[in-house]
Amino acid sequence: MTQIVLNAVVYFLLFTLTSVIIEGVTLNVVDFGAKPDGETDSTNALLSAWGRACSSTSPTTIFVPLGRFLVGKVVFKGRCNNKGITIHIDGALVAPSKYDVIGNAENWLFFDDVDGVSVIGGVLDGQGTDLWACKRSAKSCPIGATNMGFTNSNNIVINGVTSLNSQMFHIVIDRCDSVKIQGVKIFAAGNSPNTDGIHVQLSSSVNILNSNIATGDDCISIGPGTTNLWIQNIACGPGHGISVGSLGKEFQEAGVQNVTVKTVTFTGTENGVRIKSWGRPSNGYARKILFQHVTMVNVQNPIVIDQNYCPNEKNCPSQVSGVEISNVIYQDIHGTSTTAIAVKMNCSPKNPCTGIRLEDVMLTYESKQVVASCNHAGGITSGVVQPNNCF
Ligand SMILES: *[C@@H]1O[C@H](CO)[C@@H](O)[C@H](O)[C@H]1NC(C)=O
Repeated sequence: MTQIVLNAVVYFLLFTLTSVIIEGVTLNVVDFGAKPDGETDSTNALLSAWGRACSSTSPTTIFVPLGRFLVGKVVFKGRCNNKGITIHIDGALVAPSKYDVIGNAENWLFFDDVDGVSVIGGVLDGQGTDLWACKRSAKSCPIGATNMGFTNSNNIVINGVTSLNSQMFHIVIDRCDSVKIQGVKIFAAGNSPNTDGIHVQLSSSVNILNSNIATGDDCISIGPGTTNLWIQNIACGPGHGISVGSLGKEFQEAGVQNVTVKTVTFTGTENGVRIKSWGRPSNGYARKILFQHVTMVNVQNPIVIDQNYCPNEKNCPSQVSGVEISNVIYQDIHGTSTTAIAVKMNCSPKNPCTGIRLEDVMLTYESKQVVASCNHAGGITSGVVQPNNCF
């Protein structure tokens, strides 16, 4: 009895203490001069609030209230004294509508060398539609900025954020460790160029959970040097699917290892799960990849390994990929393909794919025969596998 009372007292004290600590300091960007009118440039207000948060040692929340806040390129630069900065957004951050303002900035909202930063809620509106139109015309256009990028950063949380119409990629995680992305929504038109949803590279321990991604390019792309990546509960489409790659563009390249992609639904996408490498020499690799519990709804190419990527036949004709692909498991993959070749593995003749496993794969194509087209791919099947002519 006394033990129970004691526990209750201890829990009460802990709870009170943590809520005081978690509450910390809140900085409202309006108090720093930001205006929710969608017109006034609020860049400096955001930067001033960041400067204050970064130099403080107590947990700090930068609060963006309801309304549309126009901001240009913002660099949230570390290192900070603070290892607990939350950017809590109720309204929207809006990029300049003229695309050349941030078109060559690489990133619109850029976090560099930060530790313990969370971005919670709100809308990031990249206003990319005019740049896409420019790219589709013959004009020369800026390459475009990523909506939100993190580099050289650790212990990052992105929760409940909506990213709209980025000029280029939506979220990029580069050289980071320990990142949790969850409950995000990413939307760009199905025909918008290079608007990848989430791109991860040179990073470890990244989790991407419970998110909805509809773009004109890969929903999630997994670049060189990605290790211990976990992706679960994703709705993807339209878009190009979830891709490991492109790998092997450089000769000297970090490999991809230990990637789990689990419980994903692809709807109307160009590819489902794909591994892609350039057809050129490289010391890169992709190993220990698991694709599990995947539903395909009218997907053009549900399962793809393509090691002959050579856009416009430039810089790689008649070369073969040096990237070694091994230990890739496809488990419980089912649904519909919109083409007859539902499984396509074109591995490198120099480094054939090894240790591929197809287990309980059931793909259909209207009511016709589906087939697998596999070259230089070695592995086994188990359970019910259709199409079953790969190995
Ligand atoms: C693989 O990555 C997961 C996280 O995605 C991690 O929990 C697990 O420990 C890693 N496995 C190895 C062998 O490193």
